[in-house]
Parts: sequence; structure tokens; C-alpha cells
Amino acid sequence: MEFTIKTGSPAKLKAGLLVLGAFANGKLPALTAAADGAVEGRIATLIKRGDLEEKAGSTLLLPDLPGLQAERVLLVSLGKEDDFGDKPYRDALGAAAKALASTPAKDAVVALADTELDKRALPWRLQQAARILADGAYRFDALKSEKDKKDKKHRGAKKLALLVSSELTAELDTAVLRGHAIASGMALAKDLGNLPGNICTPTHLAETAQALAKQHKLDVEVLEREDMEKLGMGSFLSVARGSHQPPKFIVMHYKGGKPKAKPVVLVGKGITFDTGGISLKPAAEMDEMKYDMCGAASVLGTFKAVAQMGLPINLVGLIPTTENMPGGGATKPGDVVTSMSGQTIEVLNTDAEGRLILCDALTYAERFKPECVIDIATLTGACVIALGKIPSGLLANDDELAAEILKRGNESGDRAWQLPLWDEYQELLKSNFADMGNIGGRYAGTITAACFLSRFTKAYKWAHLDIAGTAWVSGDAKGATGRPVPLLSEFLIGRAQSMGS
Ligand code: BES
Ligand code: MN
Ligand code: ZN
Repeated sequence: MEFTIKTGSPAKLKAGLLVLGAFANGKLPALTAAADGAVEGRIATLIKRGDLEEKAGSTLLLPDLPGLQAERVLLVSLGKEDDFGDKPYRDALGAAAKALASTPAKDAVVALADTELDKRALPWRLQQAARILADGAYRFDALKSEKDKKDKKHRGAKKLALLVSSELTAELDTAVLRGHAIASGMALAKDLGNLPGNICTPTHLAETAQALAKQHKLDVEVLEREDMEKLGMGSFLSVARGSHQPPKFIVMHYKGGKPKAKPVVLVGKGITFDTGGISLKPAAEMDEMKYDMCGAASVLGTFKAVAQMGLPINLVGLIPTTENMPGGGATKPGDVVTSMSGQTIEVLNTDAEGRLILCDALTYAERFKPECVIDIATLTGACVIALGKIPSGLLANDDELAAEILKRGNESGDRAWQLPLWDEYQELLKSNFADMGNIGGRYAGTITAACFLSRFTKAYKWAHLDIAGTAWVSGDAKGATGRPVPLLSEFLIGRAQSMGS
């Protein structure tokens, strides 16, 4: 996808497709009104007649309008004027993205970002537009046969111009570049998520990190089993015991900030397939446990986005990655393991493996003296029960950090919702035989999982994102979402700005 920003009259622009917004009451944003003038009011007439449905994101395709240079116009409803806000704006962009992905037009001009939106300035609107339109072009056909691919190859606009009526500035360019960079980070995260467990192994994740380091200005180190043994990562390694795939611990550095500036550390759960281990999962939908490395994928995707944006910050990425398999050497319920922190853990359920690999990574994070640490994990089915598939679950040992993440979630449209991490829940983790058990019983599963992690994060400000509900969608449209790359990227953009560089 190629992006430009353009200014000028929509009627005179040559393009395969021109995308214009309109409110349900027939009110036309300035650029749509200008185009309407050139077609003698036909657009307004069609809307009055009810040809465009009211709901934001409804569309109407109008080919060969006399008076316009564009070959086709896609009219997109912005919904009721009084209700116009972030969501209808994103819905309109989403609908445009869908149409752009399958149009025979090679190039398109999109005027949606020019629409005034309360509290959201033009750079924000452009960044959202670039991100959503680029993301809409995402396709996962790496595993389809050549013939199947060829049939679909030629559709979809490859060149997009975002049309605005104001002066072009560097700030607007940056906004579009950021939106585009975030979409390419999401695409990487989606690719890795969608790849099955037989291809996306811990070794594949390590190789992806190394390839990314070559493309961009990153340092990557991959620790092997022996290295982790030396570090005493007994908890992480206990999960890898049942698998033939070697576990990896990926350490990534992006150094865009001042050499002495403390880094933000991102930690991603990288279970490339979660069978549950000896506490085996039921067969139904078990294929979806290939997505159990989406936390890791979001760290890689965020690194790609940050490197592409060239943000002036220091960032460390930690990815503990392994399969969770029920092999002959597998950890058994009741086994006691010693974590890198020295704390002992009774593994009461081998399916609560995410926390077992994360805790050692969180202890390893201490050495970077982090500004803050955020871990991202498809950690609990309970999170999907509590919050559904709309927000990611957020728990933190620092309320300011939590508030900052919630805010960046709202700005990016990739939202999170906070759950309490109160001490009262900690007692649910008690074990008769070790310092703690790895499960907390039937109640508050998302919270007790975070309570477990909190015992390894005392040295720094920490937040945990449970993305079990948000990292992928099930059913007919099964596929990875690339979340929470937009939230993490927005968070880091914010951090870069507040550091004044
Ligand atoms: N990867 C799963 C969590 C999960 C399940 C995410 C379903 C998305 C959909 C995790 O490793 C797990 O199995 N968690 C257990 C924890 C329980 C044993 C305390 C769960 O949620 O059932
Ligand atoms: Mn599990
Ligand atoms: Zn898991």
C-alpha cells in the first residue's frame, strides 16, 4: 500500500475510486459538497431518496458520475450527524477499507478524514484513516495454493491518496506515516498469529525476530535452553518439558532514545501451541490455541511499528516461547518448580502455563531497570467470559500507568478495561507444598492470574494486558486481529512525546 496526502478539488482528481462521506440527514462534509456541486446535486438527491442507508459504514457505489474525473464514487454513511464520533468515523473507514480491498480500481482518493470531528484534530483523523485503510488490505494467503492466490490477486486499490482541504504540513505526513507503520506492525502480528503451530514454532518466532533486526535498527539475542537453565528459569522450562520443539527466550532492543534513558519493557507470551499439557484441553476449537503466542506476536509487531516510526525511545522486548505439550517428560499436576526469582510454585494445573513462562521473563526484566513493564498475554479464558471480545483486560500495580494505558486505548480505538488487583485475591493462590499454586480456583480467574504475575513484578511499575478475547476472532472470519499493536504503539508514541524529544 502506498499513501499520499492530497489537497484540491475532488471533482478534478483522476482516480479509479473516490470515497466520500455523507451524514444520514443529507448534510455533506465540505469535500463531498464540492463533488456534489460538480454533479449537479445528484449525491444529495440520492441521499434524500434514501439510497444510502443511515447506519454509519453503509455504502453506495456510483459508477461513472458525469462531471467527475473519478471512475467511481463510493458514498459512505457517517451516521447521524449528532452522533458523529470516534466509532462512526472508524466504522465509515472500515467500510471504505473493505470496499477498497476488493475494488477493480488500482488507485483511490479517500476524503473521509476531512470531516470535522469533536475533540479529534486532523492528524488524529489521518492517522486513524491510514491505519484502518492499510489494515483493511491485509490478506493471509501464505498457505493457499498458487492457483487459489492468482484468482484473487488483482483486485484492491494499491495507491491511496487521503484528501484534505487544509494546507499540507509535516505533521500531517507524520500522522499518515504512523498510521501506516502501525498497520504494518499489525500485519506482522496477524501473520504470526495465523500461522499454524507446525510452522510458527518457538524457532520460527526467534528467526522472525532476527529477520526484523536485520531490516530495522534492532539488536536481538536468543537464549537457548542451557542459557535459561543457567539463569534458573525453572518455571519457564517446566512448561517446555513435554515438547520436542526447543524453547527460546528472545531478547530484543530498540535504541531510539538517549543512551541513558530507561527503557519500556514489553513481555509477550509465546506459547506457539497450548494443548493444556497433562491437564489436556478438550478437543473442540483446540486449533485456536495456535493463537496462544499472540502476546509475543504483538511485541514483534510493535517493534516493527516503532522502528518504522523511528520513535525517540528505548524499548526492550522479551519473549519466552515454547509449546505446551503432554509428552513423556511433561510436568505433572502437583509437580513443584523453582522460578528464577527463587519462589517455588506448585503446578496444580499444567494448562495455567502462560503465567509460568511469564514469571521468569518478568524477573529477567529487572536487569533493565525499566521505566515500566507491560506484559501481553492470551492468559485466561475467564477474561473472555468477563469482558467478551471488545476490550483487553488490564491489571496493574500502578494506577497512573493503568490510566495512561486506558487513555491510549481510547485514542487508538484498541481499548482496554481495568480489573482490580486487590490484595484480598492473593490468598486464593496459596499452596500447601510450595510458595504458591499456579491456579486460584473457579472465581476471578483473570485477577488471580494477574495476582500470580504481580509476585514477580515488585521491582518496577507494571501492567498486564490479558488479550485472550481480543487477539483473534473465531467463526467464519477466524483470524488474528493484530491487537493490541495499535494500543501499544499509541502508548509508546505518547511516551516519546512526553520525553520531550
Ligand atoms: N491460553 C489459555 C487461555 C485461553 C483460553 C485464551 C481460551 C483464549 C481462549 C491459557 O493458557 C489457559 O489455558 N488458561 C486456563 C487457566 C486455568 C487452568 C486456571 C483457562 O483459562 O482455562
Ligand atoms: Mn493453557
Ligand atoms: Zn495458554
